[in-house]
This record gives sequence, structure tokens and C-alpha cells, in this order.
Amino acid sequence: MPKKNDNLISALSAREILDARGYPTLEASLILSSGQRVKASVPVGANPGIFGAKDLHDGDRRRHQGKGVLLAANHINELIAPRLVGMDVGRQEDIDRILIDLDATSDRRQLGANTIHAVSLAVARGGALSEKSELFSYIAQHFNLMPPECVPTPLFNMFNGGSHADTNLDFQEFLLVPQKESPTFTASTCEGKAERMVRAGAEIFHALGKLLRESGYDVDTGLEGGYAPDMDSSLKALDLILAAIIKAGYKPNIDFNLGLDIGSARLYDESAKQYVFALDNSYFSAQNLVGLYNDWLQKYPLVYLEDGLAADDWTAWRQATASLGGKLVLAGDDLFSSSLERLRRGIAEKAANAIVIKPNQIGTLTETIECAKLAQRQHYQLVVSHRTGETNDDFIVDLAVALGAQYLKAGALSRGERVAKYNRLTEIAAI
Ligand code: PGA
Ligand code: ZN
Repeated sequence: MPKKNDNLISALSAREILDARGYPTLEASLILSSGQRVKASVPVGANPGIFGAKDLHDGDRRRHQGKGVLLAANHINELIAPRLVGMDVGRQEDIDRILIDLDATSDRRQLGANTIHAVSLAVARGGALSEKSELFSYIAQHFNLMPPECVPTPLFNMFNGGSHADTNLDFQEFLLVPQKESPTFTASTCEGKAERMVRAGAEIFHALGKLLRESGYDVDTGLEGGYAPDMDSSLKALDLILAAIIKAGYKPNIDFNLGLDIGSARLYDESAKQYVFALDNSYFSAQNLVGLYNDWLQKYPLVYLEDGLAADDWTAWRQATASLGGKLVLAGDDLFSSSLERLRRGIAEKAANAIVIKPNQIGTLTETIECAKLAQRQHYQLVVSHRTGETNDDFIVDLAVALGAQYLKAGALSRGERVAKYNRLTEIAAI
């Protein structure tokens, strides 16, 4: 009797679920011929960005303000499932190619990047299960990646601003960056190191909350879990993080440094060619802004700067990279929108030295890995990132580990959908 193949896709379906903000998103479910079942859900960005692939939303204003994903779920149930049922779940690249061809647009607007992403992730999970592998090692093996000894360094969100919170803070994220070489994090195992980083991050998060309360600020949090009080100046938020590091018994410069996601697209006045920092009551040309960042480097242990310049200000990015690129991680998020084409331009223009990879901006796992590999070949650092409208799915953590990304950005050490990622990070570190 021929041996039964347990690794075939026997059913694939999708439904509308809610993300952490209470807006709709997609969950795909895949059943293998063995009877085992896996699920994957996709996050939604607050800033869809003009260059990334396009999600499909129903546009029916009578449901979820038009943000429903019933059409996308239907595409999976009616169009994609019949094509994939019967295929070996391990054929990730072939399946991703089928998804790309079925869509047949350059920005995935026909089927929707969310539709494609949900299926591609569920297939990868099914593949890992069929091989009885952990997801990160399945991805690494399948795509010929060589992850380093230990997991990526987490970038902990401490304050939320910009479009992510109801606060006057202009900058989108104020980050706490563990210094992975610090003796505080030195441990004989990766598990020990990851546990120490996450524990210290959580202790500092709570120390910051206490400091805020004592100083009369409110401790409400924003969409990515960071605190979101009104402040007198942007730098005050950095000062408070430094104070919280000390209050929790750690050392700035040695154990922890600082990072910022300026989210400057929102702050750039295209017609005046100026960056407007409303809280600080100041305006900058791109050149002056690079000067300001250089000043901050003198005063603060700033090691990470994301979207410091507007996404289409290529000249400014070139100048900033020439002037700051040797001194800190200059990450392009909106700049690249995880697009291979935008990354190629960035390489040619010598813009940024790190790329923020948001897999749902691309769609398929295969293309995400292709983009990350190109970045790595060109010596760009990788920052694998969550989105504002997350779910409890922790796929990005396994992906970040498999890719050997330098950083994982998963929000604050609060809110279930953020903490889920850090808990997976420490779990993987212990394997
Ligand atoms: P999002 O991005 O708002 O598009 O989800 C988060 C970020 O800018 O890092
Ligand atoms: Zn960003």
C-alpha cells in the first residue's frame, strides 16, 4: 500500500477577527492531511504608507467603518483554497508564487497584501508542523539562513506619540535599547541573556510609570503600549527614560541606550520643505535637522534613529547617512516600506544603514526573505517589526530569529499582543 502523505493541505479557510485596537483583520486556518491544524493572523498598520503593498478592506461603511475584511476572507475561501488544497505544505515558494500570480498586481491590491500574508504565514506554520520543527528553525532551514547563536535585541517602546497615542508628543516611539555587550546581560546561555534583557526592560517600564505618577503625569498608554502623557518637550521624555533606567538599578550608556522613531512623514511640511516639531515649537530644514540629531548624539546615548527624515526626501537621507551613519543605527521604515524596489534605490543612494521589515507590507514569506537577504548582503541591519494593529500572533519573532535580525521591534512591555512577542522571544532563547 502506498504510504499516506500527511503533509498535504486538506483545507484552508479564513475569517474576520479583531486586532488589538478592535478593528477587523484576517485569520487563516489550515488543516493538514494528518488532521493537524494551524492558524495565522495578520497585523494592520496605522500608517499604511504610500509605497508598501495594499491591504484589501471592504469599504462598506455600514460595517467597521469600511475596514471589514470579508472580501479578503472570501478570496481565501473561494479563490485561493481550491488552488492550494492537495499541495504539499512544504512547497512554500511555489505556493507564494501562486499567490503572487493570482493577484497579478505590483502592489497586491487585487487580492490584498493582508489576504496573501495570512495564507503565506499559515502555510509556513503548517510546514513547520509537518516537519515537527520549531517555526524559526523550519524557516531558517527552508530558506538556507544561518541564524546566529542568540536572539535579536528587543527595542522596547517606552513612550508612544505621533499618530499612535493621544498625547502632544510628536515623535512616534521613544525606545529603550539594551546594550547587548553589557556585563549585566552576560550569561552563559542565550536563555539567560534574553531573560535578563526582557526582565530589565519590564522593570524599567514600571520604574518609568512610577516616576511619571510621582511627577504628576498620567500613565495612560498608547496603541503600542508605551506611556502617552502630555509633556513640555520631546527631550523631557528622553530624560525621564534615563531617570527610570537609574531608578530601576541599571546604567545608561552601559546597560541601556536610547532610540527614537521620529515618524517624520507626519511632521514634514512638503510645501515649506520644513520639519515641524510642534511640541518644541521649532522648524527645521533637512540640513538643520541633521545638525539637531548630531547635537542630541552629544547629549544622549542615542544609538537608534528611525524615520528621522521624510520618506521621499532622498537628498536629506543621503546627507543624514553620510553625517550620522557611522555613529548610530539609521533605520528606514516609511523610507523603504519593506519594498525591494525602494531598498534597491536606498542602496544606490547610500540612504540609511538599517531597514525596518514589516512582513505584512510585502505579503509572501518568500518575498520578505528575499528583501531581508538583499539588505543583509548590502550590510544593512535588520529590524523586524510589529504593526500598530497587532494580534496575539507571534510569527514575526520566529522570523526575526531565523533571519538573524539585529533587532526586534514589538512595542512596550505591556498589552497582551506586545508581550506575546517578548514571551516568544524568551521561549525561543531557551530552546
Ligand atoms: P505602523 O508602524 O503605525 O505603520 O504600524 C509602526 C512604526 O512606524 O514603526
Ligand atoms: Zn516606524
